[in-house]
Amino acid sequence: MHDFVYYTPTRIIFGKNTEQQCGGLIKARNCGKVLIHYGGQSALRSGLVDRIKASLTAEGLSFVTLGGVVPNPRLSLIRQGIELARSAEVDFVLAVGGGSVIDSAKAIAYGAANGGDVWDFYMSLRKPDACLPIGCVVTIAAAGSEMSSSTVVTNEESGFKRSFKTDMARPVFAVMNPELTLTLPAFQTACGCVDILMHTMERYFGHGSNMDITDSISEGLLRVVMHHASALRDDPANYESRAEIMWAGSLSHNGLTGCGSDGGDWATHMIEHELSGMFDVAHGAGLSAIWGSWARHVLPERPDRFALFAERVMGVARAESNTVTGLRGIEAVEAFFRSLRMPVSLKELNLAPSGDQIEEMARKALVGKAHIGSVKKLLQPDIAAILMAAR
Ligand code: NZQ
Ligand code: ZN
Repeated sequence: MHDFVYYTPTRIIFGKNTEQQCGGLIKARNCGKVLIHYGGQSALRSGLVDRIKASLTAEGLSFVTLGGVVPNPRLSLIRQGIELARSAEVDFVLAVGGGSVIDSAKAIAYGAANGGDVWDFYMSLRKPDACLPIGCVVTIAAAGSEMSSSTVVTNEESGFKRSFKTDMARPVFAVMNPELTLTLPAFQTACGCVDILMHTMERYFGHGSNMDITDSISEGLLRVVMHHASALRDDPANYESRAEIMWAGSLSHNGLTGCGSDGGDWATHMIEHELSGMFDVAHGAGLSAIWGSWARHVLPERPDRFALFAERVMGVARAESNTVTGLRGIEAVEAFFRSLRMPVSLKELNLAPSGDQIEEMARKALVGKAHIGSVKKLLQPDIAAILMAAR
């Protein structure tokens, strides 16, 4: 088992009507002026933003609002948010939405607390000294940003989608009411379930040594998410399944399933970020379209690990070799993604990138890095080969 630090400072308030507690949670931190940040439509249409405003008003808090965050959140709106946060002198940022809104809120919180251009942090040009406190009301179980240290932002001018992490951006609280996710379209629910699975799978595959406790938590989480993802496909109004998926989404990306690992692989995520940066695809759908091609490309490096995964998570019987067992596990994952009506190729994602576009994505994935991935250290030809195979 590798040495590790496990740090999860986020207070979780889980259950029905919990959004009514937002005002009290912020007041308890002695903050008085809040930026409420939300997405395109869903949080306004459902009345959620109004309920949150009422909760803040009841506690004597004042607020300004900024909506309009789109999936793959854009730097231009973040810049507007930073100006607003500075001019209104806000001391707390409340994200009401999914990963895109929470990540946009984290960027605003960095930008408002530091001078200069916030994009510098995402391009590793300098580090922030501070970050405003962030809280969130989660409306989709997916990215796990409510407990993670990361924020992922798209610079629409350069086409770069980049992540940045520090513990300063971990939300101080996350309000999680599974009922809020009942209005999700089936496609977004399925995208979220894929992302949740991938956050643990990225950590499961690497070059770690023995880690029975973490493996066992991860394998259990993956089986539970697959079970309830299927249940939600058939019965989207099932509260219990919504609740299981929502909590799994946080546990899958708060570091728990990576304790003792080598940090995990993350190449599928890195390659997906290039796809999203170029084609603006839904993150979960991009992941499912690429994962099988990545897995086949790197299988020869860790057939033992792929075989273990196939057996324990996908219920595949041991075959004559780890490679064959591993391959059957990969096929089982793709069959599962298909059962959720998620794409397992770029074609199924309605994309047909040219050879030049594939080379461009492979090149961009390595800007500022010597390689990506852990199972196999991927260089530009590997990344291009994975994208070609995914076509
Ligand atoms: O804008 P609205 O109208 O709210 O619509 C959203 C959006 O179109 C909709 N939605 C959200 N809650 C809803 C709802 N529709 C109906 N009812 C509700 N209750 O869902 C759509 C997708 O929302 P988004 O926030 O984009 O989804 P998700 O949580 O999957 O976030 C994706 C973003 O997170 C990043 C991704 O790269 C992507 O940019 N990630 C962030 C991570 C992190 N910070 O730790 C880790 C992840 O790996 C991921 O990279
Ligand atoms: Zn993800």
